[in-house]
Amino acid sequence: MAKEKMVNYDIKDINLAPQGKQRIEWADREMPVLRLIRERFEKEKPLDGIRIVACAHVTTETANLVRTLQAGGAETVLIASNPLSTQDDVAASLVEDWKVPVFAIKGESTDDYMRHVRTALETNPNIIIDDGSDVVATMVKERRELTEKIIGTTEETTTGINRLKAMQKAGLLNFPSIAVNDSQTKHLFDNRYGTGQSTLDGIIRATNILLAGKTFVVVGYGWCGRGVAMRARGLGANVIVTEVNPIKAIEAVMDGFRVMPIAEAAPLGDFFVTVTGNRHVIDKHHFELMKDGAIVCNSGHFDIEINLEALREMSEPPIIRRPFVEEYRIRNANKSIIVLGEGRLVNLAAAEGHPASVMDMSFANQALSVEYLVKNKGKLAPGVHVLPEEVDREIASLKLKSMGISIDTLTPEMIEYMSSWEIGT
Ligand code: ADE
Repeated sequence: MAKEKMVNYDIKDINLAPQGKQRIEWADREMPVLRLIRERFEKEKPLDGIRIVACAHVTTETANLVRTLQAGGAETVLIASNPLSTQDDVAASLVEDWKVPVFAIKGESTDDYMRHVRTALETNPNIIIDDGSDVVATMVKERRELTEKIIGTTEETTTGINRLKAMQKAGLLNFPSIAVNDSQTKHLFDNRYGTGQSTLDGIIRATNILLAGKTFVVVGYGWCGRGVAMRARGLGANVIVTEVNPIKAIEAVMDGFRVMPIAEAAPLGDFFVTVTGNRHVIDKHHFELMKDGAIVCNSGHFDIEINLEALREMSEPPIIRRPFVEEYRIRNANKSIIVLGEGRLVNLAAAEGHPASVMDMSFANQALSVEYLVKNKGKLAPGVHVLPEEVDREIASLKLKSMGISIDTLTPEMIEYMSSWEIGT
């Protein structure tokens, strides 16, 4: 009789596995591109013997990525990329049904979160799949000797890529890293349509407040901000955008949004969503200007965008009104500010993150980046790389095919015209 594989883990409750398995398989129905990669990996085993640490939001979609890596022959340890985003039933099913070591509990403390990062690094990974760069930064700071065995890393987020570029500038990146976020099939869809839908989903699940007719302030007009603004408008909100980049600000204006400084938007907003990747974009003086009952939340990677320390100093201890809804009564001001999801990613804290259909393309990029790193072991220069454009286009083609949509191809005449200079007016 085959011996049962022993798996180390730190999760909430293994008995949640049956529900997690149902939900993982449900998400898989919407992930046809990743499924095709999984079927190929199953046959070709391109990741045989590779040890991976994956730091990601522990969701049904991530479970399907981990299944894909496992099908390719990799040993993967999964840890959470955010203390509040773990789906405990998914963690249980990965341990029970797929024998994946998972270290993630929804609501874990920052200390436990960091303990899980360090435990995962103990496995001497060859590849790190990171989401925000906490694992890579910890390895570079505390376990520099491990970088010698690293084939490469991949990074899911804009925030994480900024950190990698800062490490590169400081001369600390002695391995290649694939900026998955820079693939077009990642940021154009995940950041825009994924963050757009799931942020509104988180706000609505947390508050159950009608958005129609409300003033909704989107702080930051990158791809995430565009998605949030577009979907808030679709629900009938009156959307204001704030920006620091003049080009993005003109885009927001021409997309039909009101644009103004955050200090002007502060007294007007019923809802505020931060999606800048920067620190304290909503600060003490903005809280002072906000109206009673203003609802503030964040959909950027880290919980640094809203200055919650300042809000805590200005307020009575918060009252929990509903799950993920805290009311801060401001002292001597006769008003409250409402914070959702403790200022962490509201779409993952109060909802389930991006729907599977967009994560299909993001995680196809992740799986193919890992394969690319392994295939090109020792050949890629240290530093930040982008996945080749043909891989990006292949992911898009497979997605279109799965949607039953076909498109045109260039005719020989078009190709000739595109490569010539003689024909003009
Ligand atoms: N990031 C945003 N949404 C996600 C999801 N559903 N799974 C994993 N990572 C995510």
